[in-house]
Amino acid sequence: MCGIVGYVGNSSRKEAGHSALDVVVEGLRRLEYRGYDSAGVAVVADGSISSRKKSGKLSNLIAELEADPVPESLTGIGHTRWATHGGPTDQNAHPHLSDGGRLAVIHNGIIENFAELKQELLAKGVVFASETDTEVAAALIGDIFRTEFDGDGANLTQAMRLACQRLEGAFTLLAVHADQPDVVVAARRNSPLVVGLGDGENFLGSDVSGFIDYTRRAVELGQDQIVTITAESVDITDFFGKPAEGKEYHVDWDPASAEKGGFSSFMEKEIHDQPDAVAQTLLGRSDLDGKLTLDEVRIDPELLKQVNKIIVLACGTAAYAGLVAKYAIENWCRIPTEVELAHEFRYRDPIVDSNTLVVSISQSGETMDTLMAVRYAREQGAKTISICNTNGSTIPRESDAVLYTHAGPEIAVASTKAFLAQITAAYLLGLYLAQLRGNIFSGQIKDVLADLSKIPAKIQHILDGAGPLRELARSMKDEKSVLFLGRHVGYPVALEGALKLKEIAYIHAEGFAAGELKHGPIALIDDGQPVFVVVPSPRGRDSLHSKVVSNIQEVRARGARTLVIAEEGDESVKDYAEHVFYVPETPTLLMPLLTTVPLQIFAAELAGAKGYDVDQPRNLAKSVTVE
Ligand code: G6P
Repeated sequence: MCGIVGYVGNSSRKEAGHSALDVVVEGLRRLEYRGYDSAGVAVVADGSISSRKKSGKLSNLIAELEADPVPESLTGIGHTRWATHGGPTDQNAHPHLSDGGRLAVIHNGIIENFAELKQELLAKGVVFASETDTEVAAALIGDIFRTEFDGDGANLTQAMRLACQRLEGAFTLLAVHADQPDVVVAARRNSPLVVGLGDGENFLGSDVSGFIDYTRRAVELGQDQIVTITAESVDITDFFGKPAEGKEYHVDWDPASAEKGGFSSFMEKEIHDQPDAVAQTLLGRSDLDGKLTLDEVRIDPELLKQVNKIIVLACGTAAYAGLVAKYAIENWCRIPTEVELAHEFRYRDPIVDSNTLVVSISQSGETMDTLMAVRYAREQGAKTISICNTNGSTIPRESDAVLYTHAGPEIAVASTKAFLAQITAAYLLGLYLAQLRGNIFSGQIKDVLADLSKIPAKIQHILDGAGPLRELARSMKDEKSVLFLGRHVGYPVALEGALKLKEIAYIHAEGFAAGELKHGPIALIDDGQPVFVVVPSPRGRDSLHSKVVSNIQEVRARGARTLVIAEEGDESVKDYAEHVFYVPETPTLLMPLLTTVPLQIFAAELAGAKGYDVDQPRNLAKSVTVE
């Protein structure tokens, strides 16, 4: 959601062929995956600001820049906007200008007290050109710059500080001023911002993808901090000017891993990345004796032994990974485990204390709802562990411990490989807690780890044999509604299968617990209604398997087209299924790592057949950084 890029270079960079516009536009291209509906840039050159902005895709902005070029410059900012206040129009796109067009500001987040500030500025005679909260922030910074410092060119940083002291809500703000042409000033509260360190140039980005083509050295900005970058310096302070240290880290993602690698979409690539994503997440987390060595879980083992309740907090796909985690953790650790949508959690006065372990799951580590819920839980004394895919992001930094999923950058808005990696990490955490608390024998842990180690090859097997499934998906492109049923760990898989189809193919889809069918959803079954059914292993608890097989019969008897995902060798489903897609044998608890894959492929293929942009579905953002 909203991508932000900033750049300052010196003349040596110009000789090397870098220009602010190129760096910024390339950064925006890499940040497209976050989801946006307009884009804009501003550069500082020849003593003034030149800005261009356009609604729609980045290509619209690029066409505008070709038709009406901006001057060569080594200082610039760029933005992709996901509309909150005001529709996705050219007018509302960022940057927003103030101080007579000499100051340009871009923003990610929501300024909650914008209405009150706007009244104040209107009374001073400020004229607004957009409906956005961002323009109010721009006007406030411009007003302070002009009135407090009389436009003294060196004071953009101070003006930003004073403005931030008055702003409420969530924001990353970047500002450039024509009076201070070699500087970009940025501020951060709750929304993400990373500094990229170069040689004779420095960068700012919503995440490292914004500058990954130029540097791997990054500094994460802390909460309520301001950074002033020039080509040679990076100065960080708090909102009151107190100097602060930024922690530098190395970015181990390479630009190639953020490219499509020959696939038709990032989503297809990421579906095919899954064997590796699971393998990488397992790597180095157990020793040869099958003992888990989760060094990242820095919480005192004695405290973890006292945990009497686990709450898993997440949103979207990550919340379905959390549901899978519940089955595994309760099974192995015998600790009551709740899963809650992060945005529901803190508004209901939840029961949380120092014996509660909160496990947050977030691919981006920046989802505002999840971040706020984690903060709330910490305030109540809970211990917090984050399962996250993005190194150095806010949620892991604000948690007591982090278990990184090593899925690599996930670019497509609809999550795939991060989901499987989250489930894998949750299994590891469950096994670790069980090991610590002595709930299961080490031999059992070793067996589960051995089963997990076979998963990547099994996913590959599913990917290799997906031809018939793809054919079916293409033939179903005009369906109006698809239902998904599952029981036990198949239930979250059904929910995820339905979510994928809604997200990228815009088809009405719903996932149900198969047992709930007879309590309502069965009324939806009509002649020809497609129903996917996720069938558990027949080798697991027998009642579970036979109950789901009965559910297939129930919907089929009412005219449904039954599309069944079952374990290889399960002949019992054949008689009741129009199509069966087999996944390799695996213990029931681990099955989501396999049964999800056909549903991802189905959604991606069908959305592709409809001609939709699979990677950037309408209205959605990759990283939802507003509440
Ligand atoms: C957005 C994305 C989803 C994602 C969810 C949680 O809604 O569109 O794909 O599952 O956010 O994101 P997170 O980064 O916290 O896992």
